[in-house]
Amino acid sequence: MTSDLTDLIRTIPDFPKPGIQFRDITTLLADGEGLRDLTARLADIARPLDPDLIVGIEARGFILGAALALALGKGFVPVRKKGKLPGKTVGIDYVLEYGTDRLELHEGQVPQGARVLLVDDLIATGGTALAAAQLLREQGASVLMALFAIDLPDLGGMAALEADGIVAQAIMT
Ligand code: PRP
Ligand code: ADE
Repeated sequence: MTSDLTDLIRTIPDFPKPGIQFRDITTLLADGEGLRDLTARLADIARPLDPDLIVGIEARGFILGAALALALGKGFVPVRKKGKLPGKTVGIDYVLEYGTDRLELHEGQVPQGARVLLVDDLIATGGTALAAAQLLREQGASVLMALFAIDLPDLGGMAALEADGIVAQAIMT
């Protein structure tokens, strides 16, 4: 099944900047069987952990995170880029493969002691996921696992997460 899912992802060179090989999941999302299979694979990994909440990172982590939350019957909490959430927020600055940004969470939406599963479509340098995990920890939550559809292993993100004590798993490389 992994190779089928991989076949549904396309690589677009030099987006959004020269030298970046952009992994585009919109082709997988547009394929009904592909989306169902990917969601089922994510759910099979997440279910035994029985998380209290699924936390997804903007923007592509919203799509997979919401699908996973629905599959598990759990709530979904978005971690958004700066200035998007209407309520009072807590936030953290972070570095991307191709720039910098800030992640924010609605204050109080992840309760103290919550056991959360963090989801995104892709891990590259790991900067985004590390920042999100740090933000969640600052709220008193524990990150049971960071789960991704795609890992770009040359960029070292999974190793960076593991070095920070975060259990991480990806379905495809
Ligand atoms: C992408 C991807 C991850 C992050 C991975 O999001 O969806 O969130 O980059 O990179 P990293 O491991 O080097 O931090 P992006 O910031 O491009 O935002 P988008 O989903 O809104 O397009
Ligand atoms: N986020 C960071 N690096 C990326 C890449 N190469 N493709 C898609 N999303 C990314």
